[in-house]
This record gives sequence, structure tokens and C-alpha cells, in this order.
Amino acid sequence: MGRIPQSFIDELLNRIDIVDVIDARVPLKKAGSNYKACCPFHTEKTPSFTVSQPKQFYHCFGCGAHGTAISFLMEYDRLDFVDAIEDLAQQAGLEVEREQGSSQPQQREDNLYDIMQQAADFYKQQLRSHPQAQQAVDYLKQRGMSGEIAAEFGVGYAPPGWDNLIKALGKDEAARKQLARAGMAIEHDNKGPYDRFRERIMIPITDRRGRIIAFGGRILSSEDEHGPKYLNSPETPIFHKGRELYGLYEARKAIRNPQKLLVVEGYMDVLALAQFDIRYAVATLGTATTKEHLETLFRVVPRIIFCFDGDRAGREAAWRALENALPVMHEGREAAFLFLPDGEDPDSLVRQEGREAFEQRVDQAMPLSRFLLDQLSQQVDLDSIDGRARLVELSRPMLNRVPDKVFRHMMYTQLERTVGMKTGQLQQLVEQDGTAQTIPTPNRRPAKPGKNSPIRQAINLIVQKPALAANIAEAAFLQDLDLPGAKLLHELLEIVRNDPQINTAALLERWRDKPEQVHLMKLAENQLPGDDQGLEEELQDIILYLQRQLKMQRWHFLQEKLTFSGLDEEELIEWNQLLNENNAPQDK
Ligand code: UTP
Ligand code: MN
Repeated sequence: MGRIPQSFIDELLNRIDIVDVIDARVPLKKAGSNYKACCPFHTEKTPSFTVSQPKQFYHCFGCGAHGTAISFLMEYDRLDFVDAIEDLAQQAGLEVEREQGSSQPQQREDNLYDIMQQAADFYKQQLRSHPQAQQAVDYLKQRGMSGEIAAEFGVGYAPPGWDNLIKALGKDEAARKQLARAGMAIEHDNKGPYDRFRERIMIPITDRRGRIIAFGGRILSSEDEHGPKYLNSPETPIFHKGRELYGLYEARKAIRNPQKLLVVEGYMDVLALAQFDIRYAVATLGTATTKEHLETLFRVVPRIIFCFDGDRAGREAAWRALENALPVMHEGREAAFLFLPDGEDPDSLVRQEGREAFEQRVDQAMPLSRFLLDQLSQQVDLDSIDGRARLVELSRPMLNRVPDKVFRHMMYTQLERTVGMKTGQLQQLVEQDGTAQTIPTPNRRPAKPGKNSPIRQAINLIVQKPALAANIAEAAFLQDLDLPGAKLLHELLEIVRNDPQINTAALLERWRDKPEQVHLMKLAENQLPGDDQGLEEELQDIILYLQRQLKMQRWHFLQEKLTFSGLDEEELIEWNQLLNENNAPQDK
């Protein structure tokens, strides 16, 4: 589907009122110019959760949660971005708009879902009625898969042959094109298309709404004379491997409000566990666990257990999962690691020892913090001073990735206990060193806009009250200004210039998932003192000041050039002019 245009998000955030959206879920009380409630994202007795109507922004002073109405729905209702927009649009009585990427996007992708469903029906039918289906049925029986589970997960059979599916579904040229776009048929220069999946057990992969978007096809024999053990759908307009999790839709259907999800490696693991009534397993699709996967999972449950083989490769995969998990470990989220005995996978193990024993393993999974600690301390000799110093080195890059203060602090405390350091000692060492690296040496500019830099203050003003920038003239010069934050300020000014009515929330949404958003959200939490007119003047002054900065920069550049290689006539005039201007009396 095409992207949702920014203009639609603007309109939506203009139409709805964040106060209504939140109040429907968490009753709000008016307090001064804001609304308040006890924070739904952490436990508290006195309300520190604040909603600002003018900014259309919420912020909790207790836990730091903040965002727009869209963020609120994503966090509170555990929706993804698009679903949150769709919910809000429905409330506002708007139809979600989509950008027209290629010729007829929406229509065509609906057809792709359609053709995938038809393919799944076809494969299921083949498993029941194809003359050679018995070998597939035997294979599944021999693996111990029950008929109920096969039916529930829509397992099917692609019979031998090069064009079974194409013959069944590719009635006309358009349908054959759809099959190719959906990854089900492979186009062949002169001989016409052929079926991608042949002589395989077919496992349909659904998206979060239960629509079929891909297949995994398993070979019937153990030998791989017919290609890889599993053949998967390629990336298509409706299937992105790194985003989808096999079994997530089914898990959410089976358990209304799951509290944990077990991440396993294979399709067959999910199916076997389901058969033993362990309904909370999902599998990545032959890829490592990505950050996108983790965000999706943590939106559904507070606790994730990663399941790996106990061997070296399993440990390494676990470490990679850990590295991806650290940046998403916010307060209230938990991750744990379950290592299986060598040579076993969840499929084999649950069939061997049954539900209870397997779930006991799940309950005893190793907490993320312990796994991290174990791995780190195994690499150093904790008895030597050098070893401890090395531990500090090793933990810094890991722990610096943890965004949540409480969680990070807890990790430090545990690490300190292991190493036998005083509480707070290690954290101090690590974070001291960490900041020491980012403190700029004299004469070097810091990478971010300085804490009290004029640019930062300008951004602060605009984020909190976009209307302040409504009358600022075009400031294209900012693009040439070599100061941190100048481009961001220019972008903000341009947005408000084109849409003077825009509110804080709509402004912030433009930076969703971009690195700047963290800073912008932080600024949005501030309170502006003083009257609007004074603030508008302040912003105006900063822009003028920056304009002079640019002239200074330009003058320094010309000055340097003059000394080294000389200036041409035009540059000389400019240099002279700038010299006069820069020497003119200044009020700031
Ligand atoms: P495994 O090789 O661990 O297989 O692959 P498995 O799940 O235990 O399968 P069975 O029990 O032998 O049937 C784990 C996952 O890696 C992907 C699949 O998603 C599989 O479920 N994979 C594996 C592939 O995509 N292609 C392959 O050739 C093999
Ligand atoms: Mn297996």
C-alpha cells in the first residue's frame, strides 16, 4: 500500500483532540491550562501525566513517557503506526489517504492478498485430493503433526509439476502477472512462467491481521536433492521478511491478552508447540531477530523469551538478539533467554517431554541482564584490576544502548555486585568516561546544538508554539550555515511557513522514527514563559543573529582564502562589504 501522506496526518491531528482520545481511555482532570491523570504507563498515586491541549501532546513527569495522539494509541492500545492512524481516522470520520506510488497501488495490492488466499485454498485442497497427496500426509503424520493443527494453520501441499498453481489460478494474463508479483510464479524469458513451489508442504504466513502474505514450503524428504529444505516467498509488495513473525496472528487469536511471547527459529516449532497447547510461540522467518521484530513484539506483550540452541551458534545468535534488544528495553519490558539442550529444538523437545516440562524451561529462562553479565564477565578475569577495567570497557557500549534510566541503573547495580564494586561505582566510571569522550575539545564544535545555543532555543520555541514562526520570512540562508541544528531549524521554519496553523503534534510527527525526534519531543515538554509577543521577538532576534553568524563564517572563509591563494575582484568586494557589516555595531 502507498504511504500515508503527511498532509493527511496533519489534517487528522488537526481534526481530533488528544484530550478526547486519552480521556476515553484514561479519565482526565482539568488542572490549570492542562489536563492530568495518573500515568497509564507506570504505577503512581499522584498524577504526573499531563496532556496539553494547545500542543496536542502528552508528557509524564514521572516516567518520561511522551508523544502525540498517535504515539498514545501506539503505546496504550499497542497498535502499530498505520493501525493507530486508522483508528483515529475512524473516530474523526475520515478515510485514510494513501500516496499513489505506482499506477494503481491500493487496488493492486488488495489483489495480491486475494491471490495469496486463493493459492492457500488451492494448496489445502491439494493436500486432501491430489493423487500424490498421500506422501505429504504420511510425512506430516510421521512428524507427529495432528490434523487439527494442520487445519488451523492452513497447512497445504504443492504437488509435483511446474505449473499446477498457474493452471489453477492464472486464468488470464493479468492473473499470471499477479502470481508473479506475489512471488508465486517465476517469469521465464521465453518459456512462460512456472510455479515457485513444487512438491512441498506449504505453510501460509499471515500478517498481523490474518491476511496471507507469503508461504514457507518444506521439502518432503530429508535429502536436499530438490533444493533447500525450506523455500520461502521472496520479498514482495506485501511481504517484508524482516518485519513479519510467523504465528503472531494465530497467537493473538488464541490468547486474548498474551503476557509473553516465545521467539523460536522454525515454522515447525510454532506448530508443534501449538499442538501441545503452548500458543504463545512465534518464529522469525529464517532471519535474525530485528529491531523491528522486537518493537512489534513489545507492543503486544511486556515479556519476550528468546529460544535458542544450546550450542555455540545458538549463543552467538542470542548475543545478536541481545544487542538488538538493548535499545528497546524500556521500563516494564522484560526479555529472557532460553537455551535448549544440544541437538534439540522446541519441536523435538516438546514432543519428547511434553507441555509441562517445556513450560517449566520457559519460566526458568535466563533474564537478559544475567545473560549479558555472564557473557561479559566470561571474557575477563575479574580478580585482576586489568580485568575489571576491561569489564568497564566491554559494558560501556552495551549499557549505553539502554535508553531506560531505571533499567540501566539496575543493570549497573547487578554488574557491580558481580564484580564486587561499591554501588554506583561502575556506573560512575562508565558514564564519566562516556561523557568525557563527547565533551568537545576547545576550538571544536560540539556535534549537537549546544545546550543553550541560540539555534536550540529557536527550535525550542517553534516546537512548543509553531505559530511563533508564522511571520518569519524565508530563511534559506540557514541551509548554508555550518552550525549544528541549522538545517533542522530551517526545516521547521519551512513547515510552519507553508502551514501556519500546524500544531506541535503534527510537527513532531514529521520526525517519527528519525533520530531528531528524541530531541524534539524533549523540547516539546518544556513550558514557555512570557507572552507571545516577547517570544516572537526572541525568535526573530535569533534568526537575525544567525544571519550575522553566516556572514561571519563567510568572511572568515574569504579571509583565509585571501591569505593562501588570493581573491578575485568579486570576492574582494564581498570581503570588504562583509568586513564593514561585521564591524557594524550590534545589539546582540
Ligand atoms: P531449521 O533448519 O532449524 O529447521 O530452520 P526446522 O525449523 O527445525 O525445520 P524441520 O524441523 O527440519 O522441518 C529454522 C528456520 O530457518 C528457515 C525456516 O524459516 C526454518 O523454519 N530456513 C531453514 C529457511 O528459510 N531455509 C532453509 O533451507 C532452512
Ligand atoms: Mn526442527
